[in-house]
Amino acid sequence: MELAEMKKSELEQFYKQTKEEYENYKAKGLSLNMARGKPSAEQLDLTEGLLSAVKSNKDCYAEDGTDCRNYGIVDGIAEAKKIFAPMLGVSEKEIMVLGNSSLTIMYDNIAKFMVFGTGNGAEPWGIQARDKKLKWLCPVPGYDRHFLITEKFGFEMINIPTDENGPNMDMIEKLVAEDDSIKGVWCVPMYANPTGITFSDEVVRRFAQMKTAANDFRIFWDNAYCIHHLNDTPDKLLNLLEEAKKAGNEDRVLMYGSTSKVTYPGAGVAVFGASEANIAYIRSLMTVQSIGPDKLNQLRHVKFFKTFDGITEHMKKHAALIEPRFKAVLDELDREIAPLGIAKWTKPNGGYFISFDAMKGCAKRICQLCKEAGVILTGAGATFPYGNDPDDSNIRIAPTYPPIEELELAARIFALSVKIAACEKLGA
Ligand SMILES: Cc1ncc(COP(=O)(O)O)c(C=O)c1O
Repeated sequence: MELAEMKKSELEQFYKQTKEEYENYKAKGLSLNMARGKPSAEQLDLTEGLLSAVKSNKDCYAEDGTDCRNYGIVDGIAEAKKIFAPMLGVSEKEIMVLGNSSLTIMYDNIAKFMVFGTGNGAEPWGIQARDKKLKWLCPVPGYDRHFLITEKFGFEMINIPTDENGPNMDMIEKLVAEDDSIKGVWCVPMYANPTGITFSDEVVRRFAQMKTAANDFRIFWDNAYCIHHLNDTPDKLLNLLEEAKKAGNEDRVLMYGSTSKVTYPGAGVAVFGASEANIAYIRSLMTVQSIGPDKLNQLRHVKFFKTFDGITEHMKKHAALIEPRFKAVLDELDREIAPLGIAKWTKPNGGYFISFDAMKGCAKRICQLCKEAGVILTGAGATFPYGNDPDDSNIRIAPTYPPIEELELAARIFALSVKIAACEKLGA
């Protein structure tokens, strides 16, 4: 029976029982974590061979004879570009292979645009910001670390609602057409963090074609999960750079990815894809900043995977470990919460998260109840700019890291907390 349809006495009874069950778990003094989207230790163990892929002096040379132990090649070794270009869907001339973090590249690109401009003659964003507040579009719910970057650089962030096709493009097109102080948009176009949705072809085309008042508007296309499929029916994403080329807008597209959740978050490689003009511009600035990235690590990745197919094959091993974890959480929600009609959540075909929408005004309370019973969740509100979810409804569930038994327990406590918060909201 749906909770909203219960008589007052039924609701009180349901609340009492649920609370008792919750208190029993609370008394166990558990310490469980469903907060950050980290790979589990088992996943990290999958790439043990990477550690010894370069093991002697003679292994340290790239195909063109470059000694990867030495300085040089600011944009990455050729064979690394070759195996990672298909991941972003770009050519080898449209990619840079860099250090271990794509987030660092995103931050760094914004910093460069603040100080030096976007490279097309437009004034640096930092100079423009003296006369007017610059703005940034943030599809919500989204990735907290994206929002922290644009908050740090002083952008006013505008929430853009999303549905199963991606962000609301009517709203985005109108805003960017009218306001030249809007300089960019965050996008996680495939298996988005946290919703798990993939942008529809129409959404991608509209991003590629839309008219922008600012000639230095940039789309930060963070394709962090583009090869992170969970099953045999993966989503498909249209190639934004190709679509933008057709419309003559290729310079607005900046693409990012990494092997953080393919090999090691602490020691992978990150990639940046863009038009040849953008690559040349960023490379010219980076040449001053660095004499080169960790090429030995790039070489390790190339020797370990050999080809892009080698990477996609490897991802199936991740899926085999992750999929049961997603299932454990989803099964609990389907069994315990679905019949009550008090929430909705996503069932993604890939990525790292389940996005859970509780009844309005319940997310903070759910996180608090979970915390008191020893289950740490990403803080309520974190999926919105400034940590402010206007509905206090969205919670990001990250099922990949805990061992499955712990996850089942955490999901149980989460479900109990959702029920308790809903009962309280309904007046129990
Ligand atoms: C959408 C998204 N982008 C980027 C990152 C971090 O990427 P990296 O480790 O390459 O900095 C994450 C990590 O959770 C993410 O979810």
